[in-house]
Amino acid sequence: MIYLDNAATTFPKPKSVYDNVMKAMKEYGANPGRGSHAMAMKGAKIIYETRELLAELFNLEDPMNVIFTSNATDSLNIAIKGILKPGDHVITTTMEHNSVLRPIKELEKYGVENTIVLCKVDGSIDVVDIENAIKNNTKLIVTTHASNLTGTIFPIEKIGAICKKHNITYLLDAAQSAGVLDIDVQKNNIGILSVPGHKGLLGPQGTGALLINSDIVIDTIKQGGTGSESSSLYQPNFYPDKFEAGTHNLPGIAGLNAGIKYILNEGTKSIYSHEKELIDTFIKEIRNNKKISIYGPESLENRCGVVPINIFDMDSSEVAYILDSKYNIAIRSGLHCAPLAHKTIGTEKIGAVRFSVGPFNKKTEVIIAAKALNEISNM
Ligand SMILES: Cc1ncc(COP(=O)(O)O)c(C=O)c1O
Repeated sequence: MIYLDNAATTFPKPKSVYDNVMKAMKEYGANPGRGSHAMAMKGAKIIYETRELLAELFNLEDPMNVIFTSNATDSLNIAIKGILKPGDHVITTTMEHNSVLRPIKELEKYGVENTIVLCKVDGSIDVVDIENAIKNNTKLIVTTHASNLTGTIFPIEKIGAICKKHNITYLLDAAQSAGVLDIDVQKNNIGILSVPGHKGLLGPQGTGALLINSDIVIDTIKQGGTGSESSSLYQPNFYPDKFEAGTHNLPGIAGLNAGIKYILNEGTKSIYSHEKELIDTFIKEIRNNKKISIYGPESLENRCGVVPINIFDMDSSEVAYILDSKYNIAIRSGLHCAPLAHKTIGTEKIGAVRFSVGPFNKKTEVIIAAKALNEISNM
C-alpha cells in the first residue's frame, strides 16, 4: 500500500511512537495526577514533559498553558466557544475546515456574528480583506495556517500583526502545518494555537493540544475531576486543569511525546524540504497531462505537502476507488470537510482527489501515484 493520505492522519509513525504507547500501557499505565505512587508520578512526568516539548516546538513561554485535547476539532471548539459571547464578532475565511466553520455557525444561534472572508481560487487570502472585515465588536480572528484542500500556506505573520494592531485574539488552526512549518506563537502574535497530535506531530489518534499565549478569558463547558483543589466544588481556574477534567489519554500523550522528539531531532526545515521535494516531483509528473487539473498555488513556496487534482469531470470518489482497488494507493476524495474551500476553487460538485505526503513517503511512491493518474486519465 502506498499511503498518501497524511493530511487526514500521518502513517506510519516513527517506531519510538509505537514503543512509547505500549510502554505507557504496560509499564506505568496508572492514572496520572490522581495519586502519589510511583506509576502515577511517572505518567504525570511524561505528561508534563510533553507539555514542555510542545512549548519548545512552538515557542510558548509557559508549558502549563499547554492544554491536552482529543484532536484539533476539540481544541478549536474549546477556544471558539470558550471565548465568543453573544454580541461578539468573529472573522474567518472560506478555506477553513468544518471544525472551524461549524462551531462558528453554531454560535450564530446565540447571537455571535461572523464574517467569512472569501479567498482566491488558488486558496490564498488577501490580508487586507481580513483587516477590512474588522468591526468594533470583533473579538477573534480564526484562520488556518495551511489549507487541508489546496495546501495553500497563509501569511500568518501578517495576520498576527493585524490582530496585534487591533488588539484582537488570533486563533491559528495549525492542523496541516504543526510539525512541518515553523510556528512561533510569540513572534507571530498567535494568541491561541490549535494543533492535532496525530497529523504532522506524528502522535497517535486521540491526541491534540491547545497552546494559550494570551490573557483572554476562555470559559469551559467541561467540569470534573482534575486531581487538584479537590475540596472545592468548582472547577480550578488555572491552566491546564481548567480544561483538563477527567483522566488523560496517557498512552496517546506518551506516543505524542515521542513524535515531537522525532520532529525536534529532525527539524521542521528538513521535514518540510523533504515534503516539498515530493510534491514538486509529483506535480512535474502530471503537469503536462491536459486531462488533469491541479489546484492550489502555482509556487511551491506557498504550498505544504498537499496536492488536489481532478481528471476531466470524473467524480473524485471514482478516481479514489480505482487508485485503491487497482493500484493500492490510499488518498482522500470528496469534500475533505471543507465545503467553502471547494466552492472557492470551483470543485464543490465533483470534489477533488487529494494527495498528501508525510515524512516517510519516498520519491518512488509519488512517481508511481503520478503514473497511475496518467494511466487513469487515458482509460
Ligand atoms: C485544517 C484542519 N483543521 C482541523 C482539522 C480537524 O482535525 P482533527 O481531525 O484532529 O479534529 C483538520 C483535519 O483534517 C484540518 O485539516
